[in-house]
Amino acid sequence: MNHFEYGPEGLACEGVPLAKIAAEVGTPVYVYSRATLERHFTVFRDALALAGVVDPLIAYAVKANSNVAVLKVLGDLGAGADTVSEGEIRRALAAGIPGERIVFSGVGKTRGEIAFALSVGVAEINVESEPELDLIAQVAAEMGVKAKVAFRVNPDVAAGGHAKIATGKSENKFGVSFAEAARLYANASNNSSLQPVGVACHIGSQITDLEPMRAAFTKMRGLVEQLLDEGLSVERLDLGGGLGVPYFNSPEPPSPAEFAAMVGEVTQGLPVTLAFEPGRVIAANAGVLVSEVVHVHERPEGRKFLVIDAAMNDLIRPAMYDAFHDIRPVIQRGGEAVYDVVGPVCETGDTFTRDRALPPFTTGDLVAFMSAGAYGAAMASEYNTRPLVPEVLVDGDRYAVIRKRPTYDEILARDVVPEWV
Ligand code: LLP
Repeated sequence: MNHFEYGPEGLACEGVPLAKIAAEVGTPVYVYSRATLERHFTVFRDALALAGVVDPLIAYAVKANSNVAVLKVLGDLGAGADTVSEGEIRRALAAGIPGERIVFSGVGKTRGEIAFALSVGVAEINVESEPELDLIAQVAAEMGVKAKVAFRVNPDVAAGGHAKIATGKSENKFGVSFAEAARLYANASNNSSLQPVGVACHIGSQITDLEPMRAAFTKMRGLVEQLLDEGLSVERLDLGGGLGVPYFNSPEPPSPAEFAAMVGEVTQGLPVTLAFEPGRVIAANAGVLVSEVVHVHERPEGRKFLVIDAAMNDLIRPAMYDAFHDIRPVIQRGGEAVYDVVGPVCETGDTFTRDRALPPFTTGDLVAFMSAGAYGAAMASEYNTRPLVPEVLVDGDRYAVIRKRPTYDEILARDVVPEWV
């Protein structure tokens, strides 16, 4: 469920018409619903509670939508943060999420990032490889601290979905192999600079079938039991993120309740706390990208291009993953026309969709890309020197710009021309 509905002034986010935000902030612009973010988080949390999962760490995956205001909304509800860079850790801290609720993942953490994570006392550093474990031990020893580590294990399970976001097969770069995990865990337990606290897995994103998750989680349960049998201490099992969301026209994903019931079944009686790293399921349907029609360009042979003021640099998912985003008119109208919806960037890849039946549009009309709250603004760039797309958060009848559009002066001021050029 989300809070984007048509009202008397067209499509609105909670109590604020998108047309009003477009007029006041300009387009393109991302608009998020606080009520939807909160609802998604509480639905996920309550489903786990109902399934008997006691006191989990729900570490929202910051990469999905990393705006500090969004992080604060979630952090205030008790969310932790799954982070993959020093920048993301800093964002989580700025939002008031304490170090003990922060998980630090990623295959290429640098020495500096590890030192920073240790200095703010993160809950666990998810170790992705043996060389990384050595580096963490070294940095922790230099700092005179004990690093809490969890081993991200690659369960070698195919999760389906787009190849660019599948992570759970052994050919993917993520995690230590299942076969090595117990040896590395035992070694780490004997290292005075390391404190292994658990194991973790994450097999992919936009997963719409519970079975691969069940298979991976069952393997992880087996590993936890093996480690406990060996007398090792295991406090936490981190089951990652990946639960899919209903994009229009996509396979219906399992509900948080179905996901939680499966988790409850697989982990029943296991004497560890669970952690989760949901991103998309919290943020995707809590946001839209609003854009204005610049031109309708009709070729004599019939193809109609809807040229809009948003481009691949603002929302890259269609270009990168052939993702389908529902496109809705901000003001509803009857009739139908078939369009290729394209942005102004000088690449054919800057095409949001081809041959899409939509209501007929004219210059100045507003369109909304639905389900754009996750991996939208967070992946935006300034390619073609298009100012970084702004973000707005709505709360009932009020809204605030939570990241402003940079001015051209600000953009140009970042470049430095050396005096010898
Ligand atoms: N944990 C780890 C270790 C991850 O790598 C990811 C996502 C998550 C959690 C959160 O997964 P989620 O619950 O959001 O599925 N840019 C792509 C998605 C990339 C996902 C990368 N990792 C897209 O736009 O579809």
